[in-house]
Amino acid sequence: MAPPVLFALLLSLVNISLGSIFTAPEQVSAFKKYDFIIVGAGTAGSVIAARLSEDPSVNVLVIEAGVADNGTDSELIYIPLLAGEGVGTLFDWNYTTTAQSGFNGRALDFPRGFVMGGSSAINSMIYSRGPSDEYDRLANLSGDSGWSWDNLEGYRLMNEKHSSPWNNRSNVGEYDPSVHGYGPLLTGLTPTVFETDNRVIANTAAYPEQYPFTLDLNSGNGLGFGWLETSVGNGSRSTSASAYLHPALNSRSNLDVLLHTQATRLVSTSGKVTFREVQVAQSATATIYSFKATKEVILCAGSVGTPQLLMLSGIGPTEQLKSVGITSVLNLADVGNNMQDQSILALQWEVNGTSLSSFLSDATALNESLEQWAINKTGPAAGNMMVNTIGFLRLPSNSTLLVAGDPAAGPNSAHIQLSFLETFYPNPGQVSPTTGSWMSATVVVQSPTSRGSLNLTSSSAFVHPTINPAYYTTAFDIGAAIEGVKMLRDFLATPVWDGYIIAPYSAVAALQTDAEIETYIRTFANTLDHPTSTAKISKITDSFGVVGPELLVKGATGLRIVDASILPAAVAGFPQAEVYIIAERAAALIKSTWSLS
Ligand SMILES: Cc1cc2nc3c(=O)[nH]c(=O)nc-3n(C[C@H](O)[C@H](O)[C@H](O)COP(=O)(O)OP(=O)(O)OC[C@H]3O[C@@H](n4cnc5c(N)ncnc54)[C@H](O)[C@@H]3O)c2cc1C
Ligand SMILES: *[C@@H]1O[C@H](CO)[C@@H](O)[C@H](O)[C@H]1NC(C)=O
Ligand SMILES: *[C@@H]1O[C@H](CO)[C@@H](O)[C@H](O)[C@H]1NC(C)=O
Ligand SMILES: *[C@@H]1O[C@H](CO)[C@@H](O)[C@H](O)[C@H]1NC(C)=O
Ligand SMILES: *[C@@H]1O[C@H](CO)[C@@H](O)[C@H](O)[C@H]1NC(C)=O
Ligand SMILES: *[C@@H]1O[C@H](CO)[C@@H](O)[C@H](O)[C@H]1NC(C)=O
Ligand SMILES: *[C@@H]1O[C@H](CO)[C@@H](O)[C@H](O)[C@H]1NC(C)=O
Ligand SMILES: *[C@@H]1O[C@H](CO)[C@@H](O)[C@H](O)[C@H]1NC(C)=O
Ligand SMILES: *[C@@H]1O[C@H](CO)[C@@H](O)[C@H](O)[C@H]1NC(C)=O
Ligand SMILES: *[C@@H]1O[C@H](CO)[C@@H](O)[C@H](O)[C@H]1NC(C)=O
Ligand SMILES: *[C@@H]1O[C@H](CO)[C@@H](O)[C@H](O)[C@H]1NC(C)=O
Repeated sequence: MAPPVLFALLLSLVNISLGSIFTAPEQVSAFKKYDFIIVGAGTAGSVIAARLSEDPSVNVLVIEAGVADNGTDSELIYIPLLAGEGVGTLFDWNYTTTAQSGFNGRALDFPRGFVMGGSSAINSMIYSRGPSDEYDRLANLSGDSGWSWDNLEGYRLMNEKHSSPWNNRSNVGEYDPSVHGYGPLLTGLTPTVFETDNRVIANTAAYPEQYPFTLDLNSGNGLGFGWLETSVGNGSRSTSASAYLHPALNSRSNLDVLLHTQATRLVSTSGKVTFREVQVAQSATATIYSFKATKEVILCAGSVGTPQLLMLSGIGPTEQLKSVGITSVLNLADVGNNMQDQSILALQWEVNGTSLSSFLSDATALNESLEQWAINKTGPAAGNMMVNTIGFLRLPSNSTLLVAGDPAAGPNSAHIQLSFLETFYPNPGQVSPTTGSWMSATVVVQSPTSRGSLNLTSSSAFVHPTINPAYYTTAFDIGAAIEGVKMLRDFLATPVWDGYIIAPYSAVAALQTDAEIETYIRTFANTLDHPTSTAKISKITDSFGVVGPELLVKGATGLRIVDASILPAAVAGFPQAEVYIIAERAAALIKSTWSLS
């Protein structure tokens, strides 16, 4: 039996050419010096880890609370048809919101990825950068023109690559190759076009003024209707783990990942506000270990994990921390404050024809498709089967909702998003009919003004924080949602839908007055799983906010945040694309700070 020290040494020799995956903190060699410690192997964390480890002179450790993405049940992550099925499983943190006053007191399940790849491994795979306004707003609010749409082009191209669907269906006229890049994340369009999609596109041809067709919604033009890009390639979901983390681990010795281990506290080292030490533990009762970074600690724990960890470390609103017994180290009032999220409501119609519903309710066909995927990564399970077409619309410019100001990211940003599915998509609490063919369309207020918060209830890292997105607590949000439902009904009332739409689902048919629509929204709307802004960015000179333009925590040394929590507001597009792009630039900023290659 070798003594522990020798054992650790042998371990490090065995792994001489590859990065290691550790599953307990005691496996990490006490002799290895890490330049960077990244908390969270999620969407942003995997990008940072892969980019920083490109320089062979630095050592990088990633600490991830969750599980491996390539072990038990990995097909739940990687089969495109099963997108959504990872929610509520071993890959989910299983958070819930507080009772939401805007939702008649309902508390919602609030999924977040608990796995390598983070939420990119359990999300709905939509890859939509949003309008150029979104990034120009980020540049504006941070005072750093490097975040503008134009200046981020290189980082967009570094992130993703458009790929063909598994069946090589031609995508000519459905996207613009010139706005896509050469990065590791694979994106693509649906292998299977449904009648619902055809009618959406036909409506844009019939009414181009009212419903313009946009060739590529990833081009910076974030208004209009078009084909939806998803993070799928080669018949599989592409995640930040499959695209960034695994390739780096499999080719470099200077990157290690520690799984099943939660960062519980940041410790200030030399000087009061220098945070280069991370405490970790595997459970509330397990031994606490500690790791030190010689250069930086980078928090990529997401919109829930990042503010929680900051507050556990005494970084946040002093009075609130005191109330849970945490000594303040750095008073930053906006940690956990300003939380925004978007919300989704589905409406359904019976349609004439064989829709995707028939396939999804056929157990044998489904089973065969999963077998085909297992063998060849082809067939109906290998493509995005859900949303293929989407529209981003403005409220009319004379809308009374805009009198008090326009909350959109800019004049070319949507207030309302509509998306289309050729199946019955139930809201929480609704049961899909067992007969008939169905389509659904969803309404999202893209530019909500409600802001909630995330609070600690305990000084233990293993007690969930309270999550209060405060949905529909402003007049704008509920008013815009009601308008969105009407805009959707107008879109579906054109002759283009004749012979296809038979009738609205009974609950949808019953909605006549604004009051009835409002009640329906408050009864059935769900989270769209897009929380942001709990550690928001601001200018160096601003007294509010949590990070400055380089994503360094204000008033601290050695500590940066790179994830969706830094976003100033709910995103005008979809968050994962923006998180990837921000992470690419953040990695370049870190490399530049430390003169890395
Ligand atoms: C069900 C669902 C559907 C979605 N659909 C879409 C979509 O279709 N399109 C889209 O663009 N966006 C979608 N999103 C949102 C998008 O996926 C997220 O906004 C984005 O992935 C967030 O990236 P992130 O890096 O901020 O956090 P994450 O990717 O969530 O990464 C955070 C990581 O940190 C880890 N972690 C947290 N706390 C700790 C700790 N204390 N110690 C160690 N590790 C920790 C977590 O386990 C996780 O791996 C969806 C999200 C969900 C949950
Ligand atoms: C989430 O819930 C599922 C189902 O109960 C469970 O298997 C999983 O372990 C839970 N996740 C966590 C992080 O506890
Ligand atoms: C930021 O926006 C304000 C208000 O729209 C504008 O006046 C200002 O020029 C913008 N600043 C930058 C740097 O874009
Ligand atoms: C798609 O094209 C690739 C590359 O040309 C080829 O290998 C593959 O067999 C094609 N697949 C189908 C289903 O035609
Ligand atoms: C798709 O998979 C094939 C076979 O595994 C591989 O050779 C190819 O490089 C992959 N394509 C992309 C774009 O990753
Ligand atoms: C999981 O991923 C790691 C890192 O890429 C790799 O070393 C390991 O072999 C993979 N495990 C399986 C079962 O594929
Ligand atoms: C929760 O956090 C918000 C924002 O920091 C704060 O306004 C609110 O008072 C907090 N609530 C509690 C119960 O501490
Ligand atoms: C799916 O296929 C497997 C393997 O052929 C079989 O064992 C199983 O019973 C099938 N399930 C259904 C629902 O058809
Ligand atoms: C898998 O691909 C091979 C070669 O193209 C083909 O012969 C076989 O029928 C496919 N299997 C399934 C289940 O689709
Ligand atoms: C906005 O303008 C349209 C068309 O000009 C008109 O029909 C509508 O009544 C106006 N709405 C309001 C709130 O003024
Ligand atoms: C259904 O579609 C067929 C043609 O595809 C058409 O003949 C029929 O009238 C349609 N039925 C309804 C109720 O629209």
